Amino acid sequence: MRNFLSVLTAAGLLVLGSAAAGFSPVIAAETSLVEKGRYLVTAGGCVSCHTDYKKKGKPYAGGAPIPTPFGTFYPPNITPDKTHGIGAWSDADFVRAMREGKRPDGAHYFPAFPYTSYTKATEEDLKAMKAYLFSIAAVSEPSTPHDISFPFSWRFLQTGWKLLFFREGVFEADPAQSAEVNRGAYLANALGHCGECHTPRNMLGGLDYDQWMAGTPVGPEGEAIPNLTPDTKTGLTWSVPEIVEYLKSGQTPDFDYAGSLMAEVIEHNTGKLTDEDLTAIARYLKSLKPVAHAF
Ligand code: HEC
Ligand code: HEC
Repeated sequence: MRNFLSVLTAAGLLVLGSAAAGFSPVIAAETSLVEKGRYLVTAGGCVSCHTDYKKKGKPYAGGAPIPTPFGTFYPPNITPDKTHGIGAWSDADFVRAMREGKRPDGAHYFPAFPYTSYTKATEEDLKAMKAYLFSIAAVSEPSTPHDISFPFSWRFLQTGWKLLFFREGVFEADPAQSAEVNRGAYLANALGHCGECHTPRNMLGGLDYDQWMAGTPVGPEGEAIPNLTPDTKTGLTWSVPEIVEYLKSGQTPDFDYAGSLMAEVIEHNTGKLTDEDLTAIARYLKSLKPVAHAF
């Protein structure tokens, strides 16, 4: 909470100072909402997909292609540009997109957009995320259309996919676990979407919830993704501080470094979270049901 708290303090000072200067304290409230949203958007890893770093694209103006067995998806421009971004969206449009995987016109998104995870985020947090996204520079560049072949290109087929695989609904705390583990579960599942890579999928791209976080031989780019459950033979046996160090700097207990997609997650997402939140994520991973999954 280090960054977030210092921002809150700054916002608080702004309120104190503004009373004397005659400014409206509403501005300070908005500033803190935007700062809260910035942290949540970081925890959500949105920038990794929605920015094309290789082509030096502007932040959130549209991402690098995502190859899948169903075709290639291009994460769109989500800057506040009214024509090419989401600048004309209401709060309700944004919440529906993230929670229900639906466009403002009601059409279904493809699950290459991990709304399957963001559905768990609270409405309050989603509104803060929107406030942050609406505070960044609008980029007037069109998104690249997806390149997906028939019949996967039919958005309405997503209705069937959703019925089969989409578990809609906000995060529910597990009363059997501590507040810290629940915080970690929220960060990992509603925001960090760790399971989207670390959980195996069926042939139609649905997540296999029985093997939650148990790793997969075929990750998003066809590479193997490690098992994060605490199974002693095939899973993650690192201590909590070791997991925190890895999520922060990418360094493994045997002095190796995270590679491939995880290096990006660490650079843009987990590496920017507070130690307190990383510890919560690590404790959540430790609380998972061990799944023996060797591949
Ligand atoms: C794994 C990659 C990935 C991540 C991470 C990701 N997105 Fe996306 N996003 C996509 C793709 C792909 C689409 C397009 C889906 C479609 O067209 O059906 C999309 C679409 C969207 C849309 C709809 C835009 C429109 O014009 O209809 C919004 C809003 C959005 N994402 C916001 C976010 C936010 C906020 C985050 C972080 C909390 C995020 N995304 C994280 C891949 C991603
Ligand atoms: C975009 C896909 C992707 C996402 C999202 C992702 N990971 Fe990873 N993760 C990987 C890959 C790939 C590796 C293997 C890295 C390597 O080979 O160096 C990995 C490795 C790890 C490891 C090291 C495990 C080991 O045994 O070496 C941990 C711990 C980890 N991830 C935790 C997380 C957490 C926590 C999240 C969510 C905040 C997350 N990951 C999100 C792809 C991802």
